[in-house]
Amino acid sequence: MTAADSAADASFDRSTEPPDPAANPWGHQSVLCAESIAALAPQPGGIYLDATLGAGGHSAALLAACPEAQLVGLDCDERALAIARDRLAPWGDRVTFVHSNFANFQPGEQRFHGILADLGVSSMQFDQPDRGFSFRQDGPLDMRMDDRLDQSAADLVNTWEEVELANAIYQYGEERLSRRIARAIVEQRQRQPFSRTLELAEAIARCVPGKYRHGRIHPATRTFQALRIVVNQELDVLETLLDLAPDWLAPEGRLAIISFHSLEDRIVKHRLKDSPLLQVLTKKPTIPTEAETATNPRARSAKLRVAQRHPLEPTPTRDRLNRGRRSG
Ligand SMILES: C[S@@+](CC[C@H](N)C(=O)[O-])C[C@H]1O[C@@H](n2cnc3c(N)ncnc32)[C@H](O)[C@@H]1O
Repeated sequence: MTAADSAADASFDRSTEPPDPAANPWGHQSVLCAESIAALAPQPGGIYLDATLGAGGHSAALLAACPEAQLVGLDCDERALAIARDRLAPWGDRVTFVHSNFANFQPGEQRFHGILADLGVSSMQFDQPDRGFSFRQDGPLDMRMDDRLDQSAADLVNTWEEVELANAIYQYGEERLSRRIARAIVEQRQRQPFSRTLELAEAIARCVPGKYRHGRIHPATRTFQALRIVVNQELDVLETLLDLAPDWLAPEGRLAIISFHSLEDRIVKHRLKDSPLLQVLTKKPTIPTEAETATNPRARSAKLRVAQRHPLEPTPTRDRLNRGRRSG
């Protein structure tokens, strides 16, 4: 499978198969849940950061596994926070909620024994037509996880130069028909600016060859993924998180990241490996079992990578000694 295929699959998985609300009253089935909690190995007295709280599924599992632990739960989406507050109420003041992008989070002196980031959008976000993520359900062409962001997907498709659009669709959607799609967008918006998801999905479907239109995935899949990544600056904030999070860990604290497409996974893999503070614990990423993907097809493209902060802090003295030895 190419990077483009897996990137497209992620959006496809997450936008076409709504979870069964009867099976999951919270609207989002946590992916690789047992594996992530095992990786974080929560300890009584430990304090944990869930950087992508969502419906609070991973956090609930962590607190159930270790009721004496404390947790800080972060989400940039106020609606997600409201759901998580409700779900995590049984743990009372062991949980602190923060409305923030993880890239802007400032923990001060606080150090965590484990940090989890389960990237991307939740099923609640994808399946709500008014959020504008889905190319199958009509809604405003929005795609902002955080309402406070300035630029919606409609702003982007109605104002960006054709070449900028083509480049973004190619880079973040790995869409080989990016130029053709960008041209069609620009032609259509001259007649009438885009405001709805289905207007864009249909414009894309009309401009691609028939073979593509009736292919394995919807022809708008990759373009929608690209727009979502740009609107929410998903790769930039991930890089910032991976720069900052090692410093937020206590010695031997663990960082667990679940990614859903190859663009994210590539960043996670390299940043964990290159951090001088971390030792990678997962040579190969952990992926969902067949049983998990059978009950939650949206988990199909998930990959979990885990790293641990080194037990001993490098001290200035040790650093100087090592440098002296190398140069001498
Ligand atoms: C896949 S869901 C998490 C689901 C959660 N682990 C669960 O089990 O219910 C991702 C959540 O992270 C949030 N999110 C994504 N990027 C974020 C960021 N940069 N900062 C803060 N929250 C973010 C989204 O709003 C969404 O609610």
